[in-house]
Amino acid sequence: MEEQLSNQNNLYRPKTDITPGDRAAHMGQVPRTLWFTGLSGSGKSTLANEVEKSLLAAGHYTMLLDGDAVRMGLNANLGFSSQDRVENIRRVAEVAKLMNEAGLIVLTSFISPFREDRQRAREIIGKGFVEIYVATPLSVCEERDVKGLYKKAREGKIPNFTGISSPYEPPLSPEITVQTQGHSVQESAQELLGLLAPYLGQ
Ligand SMILES: Nc1ncnc2c1ncn2[C@@H]1O[C@H](COP(=O)(O)OP(=O)(O)OP(=O)(O)O)[C@@H](O)[C@H]1O
Ligand SMILES: [Mg+2]
Repeated sequence: MEEQLSNQNNLYRPKTDITPGDRAAHMGQVPRTLWFTGLSGSGKSTLANEVEKSLLAAGHYTMLLDGDAVRMGLNANLGFSSQDRVENIRRVAEVAKLMNEAGLIVLTSFISPFREDRQRAREIIGKGFVEIYVATPLSVCEERDVKGLYKKAREGKIPNFTGISSPYEPPLSPEITVQTQGHSVQESAQELLGLLAPYLGQ
């Protein structure tokens, strides 16, 4: 008898011979979702990119899900209302979970400003979830203003902009916190790789 997933929709888990554990073993790695969170301009994409390069160089298999790219594709029908932000994060978590089941180490770089949404992502993804707080202060992010978005937000041209007109709720107990203020990209990436090591072993 197959395991029934939902009585209401008559959904059953398909019976398969290959399990997520088999795929991970085949790749010789522990699948994880490295969930970067932090303000716009904090350094999520920059550090995820650096970490992915190092992981590939070390022989790992990875996938990077970046906020802007996902919003242009999979989540193109979503905006920045609270409801859409919740759905944005839910879909990303479900996709990351599937990729973990494929054996991959997934890096996600989304502002993901709300604790409740990140908690839901943690629940969807399960034990492979590693929350990485890129703890760059608002003043530094605003000074960097990589995309010119803070300027626009201060001019009132972007509604619900995180840190300006919409809150950012810092993680209370992230697995990892990384500082970027006063550090080069290489320094922060090296620090992060050191902190990640215990999560990537067998
Ligand atoms: N130590 C550091 N670590 C990471 N980024 C740094 C550091 N020092 C300076 N920076 C710069 O800060 C900027 C971070 O921008 P990045 O696009 O990575 O932010 P983000 O968190 O992905 O923002 P968004 O949410 O808007 O996508 C880059 O221009 C990067 O070069
Ligand atoms: Mg980014």
